[in-house]
Amino acid sequence: MAAYTFVDHKYDVVVVGAGGAGLRATFGMVAAGLKTACITKVFPTRSHTVAAQGGIGAALGNMAEDRWQWHMYDTVKGSDWLGDQDAIEYMCREAIPAVHELEHYGVPFSRTPEGKIYQRPFGGHMRDYGKAPVQRACAAADRTGHAILHTLYQQSLKHKAEFFVEYFALDLMMDPQTGECLGVVALDMATGTIHRFQAHQTVLATGGYGRAYFSCTSAHTCTGDGNGMVARAGLPLQDHEFVQFHPTGIYGSGCLITEGARGEGGYLTNSAGERFMERYAPTAKDLASRDVVSRAMTMEIREGRGVGKGADHIFLHMEHLGAETLHSRLPGITETSKIFAGVDATKEPIPVLPTVHYNMGGIPTIYTGEVVRPTKDNPDNLCGGLMAVGEAACVSVHGANRLGTNSLLDLVVFGRAAAHRAAELVKPNTKHKGLPADAGQNALDRLDRVRNAKGERRVADIRLDMQKAMQLDAAVYRTSKSLSEGVDNLKKIAASMPDMGITDRSLVFNTDLIEGLELENLMACANATMVSAEARKESRGAHAHEDYPERDDAEWMKHTLAYVDDKYNVSLDYRAVHTYTWTDEVEYIKPQKRVY
Ligand code: FUM
Repeated sequence: MAAYTFVDHKYDVVVVGAGGAGLRATFGMVAAGLKTACITKVFPTRSHTVAAQGGIGAALGNMAEDRWQWHMYDTVKGSDWLGDQDAIEYMCREAIPAVHELEHYGVPFSRTPEGKIYQRPFGGHMRDYGKAPVQRACAAADRTGHAILHTLYQQSLKHKAEFFVEYFALDLMMDPQTGECLGVVALDMATGTIHRFQAHQTVLATGGYGRAYFSCTSAHTCTGDGNGMVARAGLPLQDHEFVQFHPTGIYGSGCLITEGARGEGGYLTNSAGERFMERYAPTAKDLASRDVVSRAMTMEIREGRGVGKGADHIFLHMEHLGAETLHSRLPGITETSKIFAGVDATKEPIPVLPTVHYNMGGIPTIYTGEVVRPTKDNPDNLCGGLMAVGEAACVSVHGANRLGTNSLLDLVVFGRAAAHRAAELVKPNTKHKGLPADAGQNALDRLDRVRNAKGERRVADIRLDMQKAMQLDAAVYRTSKSLSEGVDNLKKIAASMPDMGITDRSLVFNTDLIEGLELENLMACANATMVSAEARKESRGAHAHEDYPERDDAEWMKHTLAYVDDKYNVSLDYRAVHTYTWTDEVEYIKPQKRVY
Protein backbone atom coordinates (compact mmCIF):
# COMPACT_ATOMS: atom_id res chain seq x y z
CA MET A 1 0.00 0.00 0.00
CA ALA A 2 1.18 3.54 -0.76
CA ALA A 3 2.39 5.55 2.25
CA TYR A 4 -0.31 7.90 3.47
CA THR A 5 0.00 10.39 6.31
CA PHE A 6 -2.72 11.99 8.38
CA VAL A 7 -3.29 15.65 9.12
CA ASP A 8 -4.75 15.51 12.65
CA HIS A 9 -7.51 17.75 14.04
CA LYS A 10 -9.21 17.80 17.42
CA TYR A 11 -12.70 19.27 17.89
CA ASP A 12 -15.41 19.01 20.50
CA VAL A 13 -17.80 18.07 17.72
CA VAL A 14 -17.49 17.26 14.04
CA VAL A 15 -20.50 17.49 11.75
CA VAL A 16 -20.39 15.65 8.41
CA GLY A 17 -22.62 17.36 5.86
CA ALA A 18 -23.73 20.95 5.32
CA GLY A 19 -27.35 20.68 4.24
CA GLY A 20 -30.17 21.99 6.42
CA ALA A 21 -29.61 19.50 9.26
CA GLY A 22 -25.82 19.77 9.23
CA LEU A 23 -25.81 23.57 9.23
CA ARG A 24 -28.49 23.85 11.92
CA ALA A 25 -26.50 21.44 14.10
CA THR A 26 -23.20 23.19 13.32
CA PHE A 27 -24.10 26.72 14.29
CA GLY A 28 -26.19 25.52 17.25
CA MET A 29 -23.11 23.79 18.57
CA VAL A 30 -20.81 26.75 17.93
CA ALA A 31 -23.35 29.01 19.66
CA ALA A 32 -23.21 26.67 22.68
CA GLY A 33 -19.44 27.26 22.90
CA LEU A 34 -18.36 23.96 21.34
CA LYS A 35 -15.36 23.88 19.01
CA THR A 36 -17.13 22.51 15.94
CA ALA A 37 -15.92 21.48 12.49
CA CYS A 38 -18.32 20.99 9.59
CA ILE A 39 -16.90 18.87 6.79
CA THR A 40 -18.79 18.71 3.51
CA LYS A 41 -18.24 17.17 0.10
CA VAL A 42 -19.89 20.11 -1.69
CA PHE A 43 -19.94 23.81 -0.97
CA PRO A 44 -22.67 24.24 1.73
CA THR A 45 -25.16 26.12 -0.45
CA ARG A 46 -24.95 23.35 -3.08
CA SER A 47 -26.30 20.78 -0.62
CA HIS A 48 -29.49 19.04 -1.71
CA THR A 49 -31.66 21.00 0.77
CA VAL A 50 -31.42 23.80 -1.80
CA ALA A 51 -33.81 21.83 -4.01
CA ALA A 52 -36.66 21.61 -1.47
CA GLN A 53 -39.57 23.56 -2.83
CA GLY A 54 -43.02 23.63 -1.29
CA GLY A 55 -42.62 24.45 2.38
CA ILE A 56 -41.80 23.54 5.96
CA GLY A 57 -44.64 22.20 8.10
CA ALA A 58 -45.63 23.92 11.35
CA ALA A 59 -49.05 24.47 12.89
CA LEU A 60 -48.65 28.26 13.10
CA GLY A 61 -52.33 28.80 12.31
CA ASN A 62 -51.62 31.88 10.22
CA MET A 63 -54.32 31.16 7.63
CA ALA A 64 -56.95 29.41 9.79
CA GLU A 65 -57.05 27.57 13.10
CA ASP A 66 -54.36 24.87 13.42
CA ARG A 67 -52.85 22.86 16.29
CA TRP A 68 -49.63 20.91 16.72
CA GLN A 69 -51.76 17.98 17.99
CA TRP A 70 -53.47 17.83 14.54
CA HIS A 71 -50.05 17.95 12.89
CA MET A 72 -48.96 15.08 15.15
CA TYR A 73 -52.06 13.05 14.26
CA ASP A 74 -51.46 13.59 10.52
CA THR A 75 -47.80 12.60 10.84
CA VAL A 76 -48.59 9.41 12.77
CA LYS A 77 -51.31 8.53 10.23
CA GLY A 78 -48.99 9.44 7.32
CA SER A 79 -46.33 7.14 8.81
CA ASP A 80 -48.89 4.30 8.73
CA TRP A 81 -48.17 3.76 12.42
CA LEU A 82 -44.50 2.92 11.97
CA GLY A 83 -43.33 6.29 13.31
CA ASP A 84 -42.14 6.61 16.91
CA GLN A 85 -44.77 8.76 18.61
CA ASP A 86 -42.45 10.30 21.21
CA ALA A 87 -40.28 11.68 18.41
CA ILE A 88 -43.32 12.74 16.34
CA GLU A 89 -44.75 14.67 19.30
CA TYR A 90 -41.37 16.33 19.82
CA MET A 91 -41.11 17.34 16.14
CA CYS A 92 -44.64 18.72 15.79
CA ARG A 93 -44.46 20.72 19.04
CA GLU A 94 -40.98 22.06 18.32
CA ALA A 95 -41.98 22.94 14.74
CA ILE A 96 -43.56 26.17 15.93
CA PRO A 97 -40.56 27.68 17.80
CA ALA A 98 -38.17 26.24 15.18
CA VAL A 99 -39.96 28.05 12.32
CA HIS A 100 -40.24 31.29 14.29
CA GLU A 101 -36.52 30.99 14.94
CA LEU A 102 -35.91 30.62 11.18
CA GLU A 103 -37.98 33.74 10.56
CA HIS A 104 -35.85 35.65 13.07
CA TYR A 105 -32.65 34.30 11.50
CA GLY A 106 -33.80 35.93 8.25
CA VAL A 107 -35.54 33.32 6.07
CA PRO A 108 -37.44 35.37 3.45
CA PHE A 109 -40.80 33.61 3.79
CA SER A 110 -43.68 34.65 1.53
CA ARG A 111 -46.18 36.81 3.43
CA THR A 112 -49.92 37.15 3.92
CA PRO A 113 -51.41 40.63 3.36
CA GLU A 114 -51.08 41.21 7.16
CA GLY A 115 -47.40 40.30 7.05
CA LYS A 116 -47.56 36.83 8.60
CA ILE A 117 -45.69 33.82 7.18
CA TYR A 118 -47.72 32.51 4.21
CA GLN A 119 -48.87 28.88 4.55
CA ARG A 120 -50.28 26.62 1.81
CA PRO A 121 -52.05 23.25 1.90
CA PHE A 122 -49.96 20.10 1.36
CA GLY A 123 -50.70 16.38 1.03
CA GLY A 124 -51.91 14.64 4.18
CA HIS A 125 -51.99 17.80 6.32
CA MET A 126 -55.52 18.16 7.67
CA ARG A 127 -57.47 20.06 10.28
CA ASP A 128 -59.32 18.55 13.21
CA TYR A 129 -57.87 15.02 13.05
CA GLY A 130 -58.30 14.36 9.35
CA LYS A 131 -61.51 16.30 8.55
CA ALA A 132 -60.31 18.61 5.72
CA PRO A 133 -57.07 20.06 4.30
CA VAL A 134 -55.37 22.80 6.30
CA GLN A 135 -52.78 25.41 5.24
CA ARG A 136 -49.70 24.34 7.23
CA ALA A 137 -46.74 24.53 4.81
CA CYS A 138 -44.74 27.70 5.54
CA ALA A 139 -43.44 28.73 2.14
CA ALA A 140 -40.91 30.99 0.50
CA ALA A 141 -42.60 30.87 -2.94
CA ASP A 142 -41.52 27.42 -4.26
CA ARG A 143 -37.91 27.89 -3.20
CA THR A 144 -38.27 27.25 0.53
CA GLY A 145 -35.24 24.95 0.82
CA HIS A 146 -33.10 27.46 -1.04
CA ALA A 147 -34.19 30.26 1.31
CA ILE A 148 -33.62 28.15 4.44
CA LEU A 149 -30.25 26.73 3.35
CA HIS A 150 -28.80 30.16 2.54
CA THR A 151 -30.04 31.60 5.84
CA LEU A 152 -28.57 28.70 7.84
CA TYR A 153 -25.25 29.13 6.03
CA GLN A 154 -25.27 32.86 6.83
CA GLN A 155 -25.98 32.05 10.50
CA SER A 156 -23.09 29.56 10.47
CA LEU A 157 -20.76 32.24 9.09
CA LYS A 158 -22.05 34.74 11.63
CA HIS A 159 -21.20 32.26 14.40
CA LYS A 160 -17.77 31.69 12.82
CA ALA A 161 -18.26 27.96 12.30
CA GLU A 162 -15.20 26.25 10.79
CA PHE A 163 -15.84 24.60 7.42
CA PHE A 164 -13.80 21.98 5.59
CA VAL A 165 -15.27 22.27 2.11
CA GLU A 166 -14.93 19.56 -0.56
CA TYR A 167 -13.77 17.00 1.99
CA PHE A 168 -15.07 13.50 1.33
CA ALA A 169 -15.71 11.46 4.51
CA LEU A 170 -14.15 8.00 4.14
CA ASP A 171 -14.97 6.18 7.36
CA LEU A 172 -15.71 6.51 11.04
CA MET A 173 -13.07 5.84 13.69
CA MET A 174 -14.58 3.50 16.28
CA ASP A 175 -13.07 2.52 19.64
CA PRO A 176 -12.52 -1.27 19.48
CA GLN A 177 -12.82 -1.51 23.29
CA THR A 178 -15.94 0.54 24.01
CA GLY A 179 -17.57 0.58 20.56
CA GLU A 180 -17.98 4.36 20.71
CA CYS A 181 -17.24 6.69 17.84
CA LEU A 182 -14.02 8.68 18.09
CA GLY A 183 -14.31 10.77 14.94
CA VAL A 184 -14.04 10.51 11.18
CA VAL A 185 -11.41 10.36 8.45
CA ALA A 186 -11.83 12.51 5.33
CA LEU A 187 -10.03 13.14 2.04
CA ASP A 188 -9.49 16.77 1.02
CA MET A 189 -10.44 16.42 -2.62
CA ALA A 190 -8.62 19.60 -3.65
CA THR A 191 -5.19 18.68 -2.26
CA GLY A 192 -5.34 14.91 -1.82
CA THR A 193 -4.42 15.21 1.88
CA ILE A 194 -6.07 12.88 4.37
CA HIS A 195 -7.49 14.27 7.61
CA ARG A 196 -8.28 12.60 10.90
CA PHE A 197 -10.96 14.53 12.86
CA GLN A 198 -11.12 13.43 16.48
CA ALA A 199 -14.26 14.57 18.30
CA HIS A 200 -16.36 13.81 21.38
CA GLN A 201 -19.42 13.69 19.15
CA THR A 202 -19.55 12.97 15.42
CA VAL A 203 -22.78 14.04 13.75
CA LEU A 204 -23.73 12.43 10.43
CA ALA A 205 -25.86 14.77 8.32
CA THR A 206 -25.03 13.24 4.97
CA GLY A 207 -28.51 13.11 3.39
CA GLY A 208 -30.32 10.31 1.59
CA TYR A 209 -29.41 7.71 -1.01
CA GLY A 210 -31.86 8.52 -3.82
CA ARG A 211 -29.12 7.84 -6.38
CA ALA A 212 -29.45 4.10 -5.71
CA TYR A 213 -32.37 4.42 -8.17
CA PHE A 214 -32.33 5.18 -11.89
CA SER A 215 -34.85 8.03 -11.74
CA CYS A 216 -35.01 10.29 -8.71
CA THR A 217 -35.44 13.90 -7.69
CA SER A 218 -32.26 13.73 -5.58
CA ALA A 219 -29.01 15.44 -6.48
CA HIS A 220 -26.11 13.32 -7.78
CA THR A 221 -24.50 13.85 -4.36
CA CYS A 222 -27.21 11.85 -2.54
CA THR A 223 -25.21 8.64 -2.23
CA GLY A 224 -25.88 7.52 1.36
CA ASP A 225 -22.34 8.25 2.56
CA GLY A 226 -23.26 8.32 6.26
CA ASN A 227 -25.34 5.15 5.95
CA GLY A 228 -22.40 3.42 4.24
CA MET A 229 -19.99 4.45 7.01
CA VAL A 230 -22.40 3.29 9.70
CA ALA A 231 -22.90 -0.07 7.97
CA ARG A 232 -19.11 -0.57 7.74
CA ALA A 233 -18.86 0.24 11.47
CA GLY A 234 -21.15 -2.76 12.15
CA LEU A 235 -24.21 -0.69 13.08
CA PRO A 236 -27.65 -1.35 11.58
CA LEU A 237 -29.63 0.60 9.00
CA GLN A 238 -33.28 0.98 9.93
CA ASP A 239 -36.42 0.71 7.74
CA HIS A 240 -34.61 0.97 4.41
CA GLU A 241 -37.50 -0.73 2.62
CA PHE A 242 -39.52 2.49 2.86
CA VAL A 243 -38.61 4.60 -0.17
CA GLN A 244 -40.87 7.51 -1.07
CA PHE A 245 -41.99 8.14 -4.65
CA HIS A 246 -43.03 11.76 -5.18
CA PRO A 247 -46.13 11.81 -7.40
CA THR A 248 -44.94 14.65 -9.60
CA GLY A 249 -41.48 14.19 -11.03
CA ILE A 250 -41.31 15.56 -14.59
CA TYR A 251 -41.79 12.67 -17.05
CA GLY A 252 -38.38 11.81 -18.50
CA SER A 253 -36.04 13.98 -16.43
CA GLY A 254 -37.41 13.24 -12.94
CA CYS A 255 -37.11 16.92 -11.86
CA LEU A 256 -39.35 17.79 -8.93
CA ILE A 257 -42.62 19.66 -9.42
CA THR A 258 -43.63 20.61 -5.90
CA GLU A 259 -46.71 19.21 -4.20
CA GLY A 260 -47.30 22.90 -3.50
CA ALA A 261 -48.62 22.99 -7.09
CA ARG A 262 -51.54 20.84 -5.93
CA GLY A 263 -51.62 22.81 -2.67
CA GLU A 264 -52.31 25.94 -4.72
CA GLY A 265 -55.14 24.21 -6.60
CA GLY A 266 -53.39 22.11 -9.27
CA TYR A 267 -54.85 18.69 -10.08
CA LEU A 268 -54.04 15.43 -11.90
CA THR A 269 -55.91 13.95 -14.85
CA ASN A 270 -55.78 10.72 -16.84
CA SER A 271 -56.25 10.16 -20.60
CA ALA A 272 -60.02 10.63 -20.26
CA GLY A 273 -59.41 14.05 -18.68
CA GLU A 274 -60.81 12.63 -15.43
CA ARG A 275 -59.71 13.99 -12.03
CA PHE A 276 -59.17 10.42 -10.89
CA MET A 277 -57.96 11.22 -7.34
CA GLU A 278 -61.62 11.79 -6.40
CA ARG A 279 -62.12 8.03 -6.75
CA TYR A 280 -59.09 7.07 -4.64
CA ALA A 281 -59.25 9.70 -1.87
CA PRO A 282 -62.73 11.26 -1.72
CA THR A 283 -61.90 13.73 1.08
CA ALA A 284 -58.32 14.83 0.41
CA LYS A 285 -58.39 14.12 -3.37
CA ASP A 286 -55.16 15.44 -4.97
CA LEU A 287 -53.92 16.34 -1.48
CA ALA A 288 -53.89 12.79 -0.16
CA SER A 289 -50.61 11.54 1.20
CA ARG A 290 -47.84 10.86 -1.35
CA ASP A 291 -47.87 7.07 -1.24
CA VAL A 292 -51.64 7.11 -1.92
CA VAL A 293 -51.33 9.51 -4.90
CA SER A 294 -48.33 7.65 -6.38
CA ARG A 295 -50.21 4.35 -6.20
CA ALA A 296 -53.32 5.87 -7.77
CA MET A 297 -51.27 7.28 -10.67
CA THR A 298 -49.55 3.92 -11.18
CA MET A 299 -52.96 2.15 -11.24
CA GLU A 300 -54.31 4.61 -13.83
CA ILE A 301 -51.31 3.97 -16.08
CA ARG A 302 -51.44 0.20 -15.59
CA GLU A 303 -55.15 0.12 -16.46
CA GLY A 304 -54.51 1.93 -19.74
CA ARG A 305 -55.53 5.44 -18.73
CA GLY A 306 -52.09 7.04 -18.88
CA VAL A 307 -51.49 10.04 -21.17
CA GLY A 308 -48.98 10.62 -23.96
CA LYS A 309 -47.89 8.48 -26.90
CA GLY A 310 -46.95 5.55 -24.68
CA ALA A 311 -49.92 6.11 -22.30
CA ASP A 312 -47.23 5.99 -19.62
CA HIS A 313 -47.64 9.17 -17.57
CA ILE A 314 -50.20 11.58 -16.08
CA PHE A 315 -51.02 15.28 -16.53
CA LEU A 316 -50.67 17.88 -13.79
CA HIS A 317 -52.83 20.95 -14.51
CA MET A 318 -52.06 24.41 -13.28
CA GLU A 319 -53.19 26.44 -16.31
CA HIS A 320 -56.43 27.42 -14.54
CA LEU A 321 -54.50 29.08 -11.70
CA GLY A 322 -53.50 31.98 -13.94
CA ALA A 323 -50.12 33.40 -14.81
CA GLU A 324 -50.11 35.82 -11.88
CA THR A 325 -50.49 33.10 -9.20
CA LEU A 326 -47.95 30.90 -10.95
CA HIS A 327 -45.40 33.68 -11.15
CA SER A 328 -45.83 34.82 -7.55
CA ARG A 329 -46.38 31.48 -5.77
CA LEU A 330 -44.73 28.92 -8.05
CA PRO A 331 -42.08 30.66 -10.16
CA GLY A 332 -39.49 27.88 -9.82
CA ILE A 333 -41.62 25.08 -11.20
CA THR A 334 -42.98 27.30 -13.96
CA GLU A 335 -39.38 27.71 -15.09
CA THR A 336 -38.49 24.04 -14.52
CA SER A 337 -41.45 22.84 -16.60
CA LYS A 338 -40.35 25.04 -19.46
CA ILE A 339 -36.75 23.80 -19.34
CA PHE A 340 -37.27 20.11 -18.61
CA ALA A 341 -40.69 19.39 -20.16
CA GLY A 342 -40.85 22.10 -22.82
CA VAL A 343 -44.22 23.12 -21.39
CA ASP A 344 -45.67 26.56 -20.63
CA ALA A 345 -47.44 25.73 -17.35
CA THR A 346 -49.66 28.80 -17.67
CA LYS A 347 -51.19 27.30 -20.82
CA GLU A 348 -50.78 23.50 -20.79
CA PRO A 349 -50.51 20.55 -18.39
CA ILE A 350 -47.16 19.20 -17.19
CA PRO A 351 -46.38 15.51 -17.90
CA VAL A 352 -45.52 13.83 -14.58
CA LEU A 353 -44.70 10.42 -13.13
CA PRO A 354 -44.04 9.11 -9.57
CA THR A 355 -40.28 9.48 -9.01
CA VAL A 356 -38.03 8.39 -6.13
CA HIS A 357 -37.76 11.33 -3.75
CA TYR A 358 -36.94 10.43 -0.16
CA ASN A 359 -35.64 7.68 2.10
CA MET A 360 -37.72 7.22 5.23
CA GLY A 361 -35.15 4.74 6.53
CA GLY A 362 -31.63 5.46 7.66
CA ILE A 363 -29.38 5.46 10.70
CA PRO A 364 -31.52 4.70 13.77
CA THR A 365 -31.60 7.48 16.37
CA ILE A 366 -33.71 8.74 19.23
CA TYR A 367 -35.19 12.26 19.18
CA THR A 368 -32.00 13.81 20.59
CA GLY A 369 -30.09 12.72 17.46
CA GLU A 370 -28.10 10.05 19.36
CA VAL A 371 -27.52 6.90 17.30
CA VAL A 372 -29.05 3.63 18.49
CA ARG A 373 -27.03 0.42 18.58
CA PRO A 374 -29.64 -2.09 19.78
CA THR A 375 -28.64 -4.97 22.03
CA LYS A 376 -30.61 -8.08 22.90
CA ASP A 377 -31.73 -6.53 26.17
CA ASN A 378 -32.09 -2.93 25.09
CA PRO A 379 -33.52 -2.02 21.68
CA ASP A 380 -32.77 1.65 22.40
CA ASN A 381 -29.16 1.20 23.53
CA LEU A 382 -27.07 4.19 22.38
CA CYS A 383 -23.77 4.20 20.52
CA GLY A 384 -21.54 6.68 22.35
CA GLY A 385 -20.06 9.59 20.43
CA LEU A 386 -22.28 9.27 17.37
CA MET A 387 -25.30 11.26 16.22
CA ALA A 388 -27.24 11.38 12.96
CA VAL A 389 -29.71 13.99 11.72
CA GLY A 390 -31.75 14.74 8.61
CA GLU A 391 -32.48 12.28 5.81
CA ALA A 392 -29.48 10.14 6.78
CA ALA A 393 -31.21 9.42 10.10
CA CYS A 394 -34.30 7.39 10.95
CA VAL A 395 -35.60 9.00 14.16
CA SER A 396 -38.27 7.64 13.24
CA VAL A 397 -40.72 10.48 12.61
CA HIS A 398 -41.73 9.47 9.09
CA GLY A 399 -42.25 5.76 9.67
CA ALA A 400 -43.41 4.08 6.47
CA ASN A 401 -44.31 7.28 4.60
CA ARG A 402 -43.29 10.92 5.08
CA LEU A 403 -45.68 13.83 4.68
CA GLY A 404 -44.46 16.62 2.41
CA THR A 405 -42.95 19.56 4.38
CA ASN A 406 -41.95 17.27 7.26
CA SER A 407 -38.49 16.84 5.74
CA LEU A 408 -37.37 20.47 6.01
CA LEU A 409 -38.95 20.36 9.45
CA ASP A 410 -37.04 17.22 10.44
CA LEU A 411 -33.76 18.86 9.34
CA VAL A 412 -34.27 21.97 11.41
CA VAL A 413 -35.88 20.42 14.50
CA PHE A 414 -33.42 17.55 14.86
CA GLY A 415 -30.36 19.58 13.81
CA ARG A 416 -31.34 21.91 16.64
CA ALA A 417 -32.05 18.98 19.03
CA ALA A 418 -28.61 17.50 18.31
CA ALA A 419 -27.00 20.86 19.12
CA HIS A 420 -28.92 21.01 22.42
CA ARG A 421 -27.92 17.45 23.30
CA ALA A 422 -24.26 17.93 22.35
CA ALA A 423 -24.17 21.00 24.60
CA GLU A 424 -25.38 18.79 27.48
CA LEU A 425 -22.97 15.94 26.72
CA VAL A 426 -19.75 17.81 25.93
CA LYS A 427 -18.00 20.39 28.06
CA PRO A 428 -16.19 22.80 25.71
CA ASN A 429 -12.49 21.96 25.23
CA THR A 430 -12.64 18.67 27.13
CA LYS A 431 -9.36 16.81 26.62
CA HIS A 432 -9.49 13.98 24.07
CA LYS A 433 -8.50 10.40 24.87
CA GLY A 434 -5.49 9.03 23.01
CA LEU A 435 -6.46 7.41 19.72
CA PRO A 436 -5.79 3.68 19.24
CA ALA A 437 -2.53 3.09 17.31
CA ASP A 438 -4.37 2.04 14.15
CA ALA A 439 -7.10 4.71 14.27
CA GLY A 440 -8.17 5.55 10.73
CA GLN A 441 -6.42 2.56 9.14
CA ASN A 442 -9.82 1.23 8.01
CA ALA A 443 -10.33 4.44 6.01
CA LEU A 444 -6.86 4.26 4.45
CA ASP A 445 -7.36 0.62 3.47
CA ARG A 446 -10.64 1.51 1.82
CA LEU A 447 -9.23 4.50 -0.01
CA ASP A 448 -6.20 2.57 -1.23
CA ARG A 449 -8.27 -0.41 -2.37
CA VAL A 450 -10.66 1.68 -4.47
CA ARG A 451 -7.93 3.96 -5.78
CA ASN A 452 -5.99 0.96 -7.08
CA ALA A 453 -8.97 -1.05 -8.28
CA LYS A 454 -7.88 -2.70 -11.52
CA GLY A 455 -11.02 -4.63 -12.52
CA GLU A 456 -12.73 -4.72 -15.90
CA ARG A 457 -15.96 -2.88 -15.02
CA ARG A 458 -16.35 0.88 -14.90
CA VAL A 459 -17.97 2.45 -11.82
CA ALA A 460 -20.71 3.89 -14.05
CA ASP A 461 -21.59 0.44 -15.46
CA ILE A 462 -21.96 -1.26 -12.07
CA ARG A 463 -23.90 1.74 -10.78
CA LEU A 464 -26.30 1.61 -13.73
CA ASP A 465 -26.97 -2.10 -13.17
CA MET A 466 -27.75 -1.37 -9.52
CA GLN A 467 -29.99 1.59 -10.35
CA LYS A 468 -31.98 -0.39 -12.92
CA ALA A 469 -32.46 -3.32 -10.54
CA MET A 470 -33.74 -0.96 -7.84
CA GLN A 471 -36.06 0.84 -10.26
CA LEU A 472 -37.48 -2.42 -11.57
CA ASP A 473 -37.73 -4.56 -8.46
CA ALA A 474 -38.32 -2.14 -5.55
CA ALA A 475 -40.85 0.15 -7.27
CA VAL A 476 -44.13 1.78 -6.19
CA TYR A 477 -45.76 -1.67 -6.21
CA ARG A 478 -43.76 -4.72 -5.21
CA THR A 479 -44.49 -8.45 -5.37
CA SER A 480 -42.86 -11.50 -3.82
CA LYS A 481 -41.50 -12.30 -7.29
CA SER A 482 -40.09 -8.82 -7.99
CA LEU A 483 -38.48 -8.64 -4.56
CA SER A 484 -36.88 -12.07 -4.60
CA GLU A 485 -35.59 -11.40 -8.13
CA GLY A 486 -34.37 -8.02 -6.85
CA VAL A 487 -32.45 -9.67 -4.02
CA ASP A 488 -30.80 -12.10 -6.47
CA ASN A 489 -30.03 -9.39 -9.01
CA LEU A 490 -28.47 -7.11 -6.43
CA LYS A 491 -26.45 -10.00 -5.00
CA LYS A 492 -24.97 -10.60 -8.45
CA ILE A 493 -24.30 -6.90 -8.99
CA ALA A 494 -22.70 -6.57 -5.56
CA ALA A 495 -20.56 -9.63 -6.32
CA SER A 496 -19.15 -7.70 -9.30
CA MET A 497 -17.79 -4.93 -7.05
CA PRO A 498 -14.32 -6.54 -6.80
CA ASP A 499 -14.25 -6.30 -10.61
CA MET A 500 -14.55 -2.50 -10.46
CA GLY A 501 -11.79 -0.63 -12.28
CA ILE A 502 -10.54 2.91 -11.66
CA THR A 503 -8.37 4.46 -14.35
CA ASP A 504 -7.18 7.62 -12.55
CA ARG A 505 -4.86 6.83 -9.61
CA SER A 506 -4.35 10.41 -8.40
CA LEU A 507 -5.76 11.84 -5.18
CA VAL A 508 -6.54 15.35 -6.41
CA PHE A 509 -10.07 15.99 -7.76
CA ASN A 510 -10.28 12.38 -8.86
CA THR A 511 -13.98 12.01 -9.66
CA ASP A 512 -13.48 8.40 -10.77
CA LEU A 513 -12.19 7.55 -7.28
CA ILE A 514 -14.91 9.53 -5.47
CA GLU A 515 -17.66 7.89 -7.54
CA GLY A 516 -16.17 4.47 -6.73
CA LEU A 517 -16.25 5.29 -3.02
CA GLU A 518 -19.80 6.60 -3.34
CA LEU A 519 -20.84 3.46 -5.19
CA GLU A 520 -19.76 1.36 -2.20
CA ASN A 521 -22.08 3.44 0.00
CA LEU A 522 -24.95 3.16 -2.48
CA MET A 523 -24.45 -0.58 -2.82
CA ALA A 524 -24.80 -1.07 0.97
CA CYS A 525 -27.98 1.06 0.96
CA ALA A 526 -29.48 -0.70 -2.07
CA ASN A 527 -28.93 -4.19 -0.68
CA ALA A 528 -30.32 -3.19 2.73
CA THR A 529 -33.41 -1.79 0.95
CA MET A 530 -34.11 -4.83 -1.21
CA VAL A 531 -33.51 -7.46 1.48
CA SER A 532 -35.56 -5.54 4.08
CA ALA A 533 -38.39 -5.12 1.55
CA GLU A 534 -38.34 -8.78 0.54
CA ALA A 535 -38.72 -9.80 4.18
CA ARG A 536 -41.65 -7.50 5.03
CA LYS A 537 -44.79 -9.50 4.23
CA GLU A 538 -47.38 -6.74 4.48
CA SER A 539 -48.27 -3.39 2.88
CA ARG A 540 -47.54 -0.28 4.92
CA GLY A 541 -46.99 3.28 3.70
CA ALA A 542 -44.59 3.33 0.77
CA HIS A 543 -44.11 -0.45 0.90
CA ALA A 544 -47.05 -1.62 -1.27
CA HIS A 545 -46.77 -5.41 -1.50
CA GLU A 546 -49.29 -6.85 -3.94
CA ASP A 547 -49.16 -10.35 -2.44
CA TYR A 548 -49.77 -8.93 1.05
CA PRO A 549 -52.06 -5.95 0.39
CA GLU A 550 -53.04 -5.31 4.03
CA ARG A 551 -51.14 -3.77 6.92
CA ASP A 552 -50.41 -6.41 9.56
CA ASP A 553 -49.88 -4.69 12.90
CA ALA A 554 -49.75 -7.91 14.90
CA GLU A 555 -46.71 -9.16 13.00
CA TRP A 556 -45.12 -6.14 11.36
CA MET A 557 -45.53 -3.02 13.46
CA LYS A 558 -41.78 -3.05 14.06
CA HIS A 559 -38.69 -1.38 12.68
CA THR A 560 -36.39 -3.40 10.42
CA LEU A 561 -32.69 -3.42 11.29
CA ALA A 562 -30.38 -4.35 8.40
CA TYR A 563 -26.74 -5.23 9.07
CA VAL A 564 -24.64 -5.14 5.88
CA ASP A 565 -21.26 -6.88 5.79
CA ASP A 566 -18.25 -6.04 3.62
CA LYS A 567 -19.56 -8.25 0.79
CA TYR A 568 -22.97 -6.57 0.96
CA ASN A 569 -24.65 -9.60 2.55
CA VAL A 570 -27.53 -8.40 4.69
CA SER A 571 -28.80 -9.91 7.93
CA LEU A 572 -32.00 -8.68 9.51
CA ASP A 573 -33.29 -8.06 12.98
CA TYR A 574 -36.19 -5.98 14.30
CA ARG A 575 -36.78 -3.32 16.94
CA ALA A 576 -39.97 -2.20 18.66
CA VAL A 577 -41.81 0.94 17.51
CA HIS A 578 -42.20 3.50 20.35
CA THR A 579 -45.87 3.26 21.25
CA TYR A 580 -45.66 6.09 23.79
CA THR A 581 -45.60 9.84 23.59
CA TRP A 582 -42.93 12.35 24.63
CA THR A 583 -45.07 13.99 27.33
CA ASP A 584 -48.31 13.05 29.02
CA GLU A 585 -50.02 16.08 27.50
CA VAL A 586 -51.06 14.00 24.52
CA GLU A 587 -52.20 10.40 24.20
CA TYR A 588 -50.76 7.61 22.07
CA ILE A 589 -52.66 7.55 18.77
CA LYS A 590 -53.94 4.01 18.30
CA PRO A 591 -53.62 2.33 14.89
CA GLN A 592 -56.59 2.90 12.59
CA LYS A 593 -57.40 2.19 8.97
CA ARG A 594 -55.71 4.83 6.85
CA VAL A 595 -58.18 6.59 4.54
CA TYR A 596 -57.99 10.08 3.05
O1 FUM B 1 -43.24 18.73 -3.15
C1 FUM B 1 -42.39 19.31 -2.50
O2 FUM B 1 -42.27 20.52 -2.48
C2 FUM B 1 -41.52 18.50 -1.64
C3 FUM B 1 -41.53 18.70 -0.34
C4 FUM B 1 -41.04 17.66 0.57
O3 FUM B 1 -40.58 16.62 0.11
O4 FUM B 1 -41.16 17.84 1.78
